[in-house]
Amino acid sequence: MNIVITQDYEEMSMQSAKFVAENLLKDSKKISIGLATGSTPTGMYDILVPIINLGIFNERVFFYNIDEYCNIDLNKNGTCKKYLLDNFYSKVSINAKNIYFLDEFNYKNYDNVISDFGGFDVLILGIGKNGHIAYNEPGTSFNSLTHIQELSVESKMQHEVDFGSIDNVPEKAVTIGIKTIMNSKCILLMASGKEKAKIIKKSLKGEIDKQVPASVLQLHPNLHVVLDKEAASLL
Ligand code: PGA
Repeated sequence: MNIVITQDYEEMSMQSAKFVAENLLKDSKKISIGLATGSTPTGMYDILVPIINLGIFNERVFFYNIDEYCNIDLNKNGTCKKYLLDNFYSKVSINAKNIYFLDEFNYKNYDNVISDFGGFDVLILGIGKNGHIAYNEPGTSFNSLTHIQELSVESKMQHEVDFGSIDNVPEKAVTIGIKTIMNSKCILLMASGKEKAKIIKKSLKGEIDKQVPASVLQLHPNLHVVLDKEAASLL
């Protein structure tokens, strides 16, 4: 595991964007990239937009969301689709055919789609305060593939701000599984802020335990972690 500790959110975003861009430029084959949503990666997407718009990737990069809420109009604020459209897809000149949207209706085929690439070439992850990665909540099997997941109260509380109130947060989400995550060739884990410090310590230095889903990342052979100094403060 490679850990980069940065001064603040801006530097975390910059270092993360640099890592993604370097991976996209590594060779000239087709590349699949799994995109996290949430407050953590927004600054990184801002930095990646002009890089993607240089046009050097020649339509060979394919973009995937990694989770999505269920039973909700996907054009509404708070959904992963709307987040990615607003923060990234609407700003980059990429062909619509290079963008895949995971949702509760198409998820059963998702692992097959991704396995055509041999797993994500680059997977970008944030982390929930309870250790969820994508929307794999505590207790999820390390063998799980893309599935529907009941959301925990902690996760709903963490994301109530995206929906205006906790009552509006959907009860369920579809998410890539832990096995889908671990099948990725390269993983970037990002975290910012002191409210993530405890779970970062538990996940990266604690026991590997399915009650702390992110702890499984310790077993990944190509994990790159970028933290700001507050998120890294207990390491
Ligand atoms: P955040 O969400 O980036 O908004 O903190 C991360 C997550 O819940 O996975």
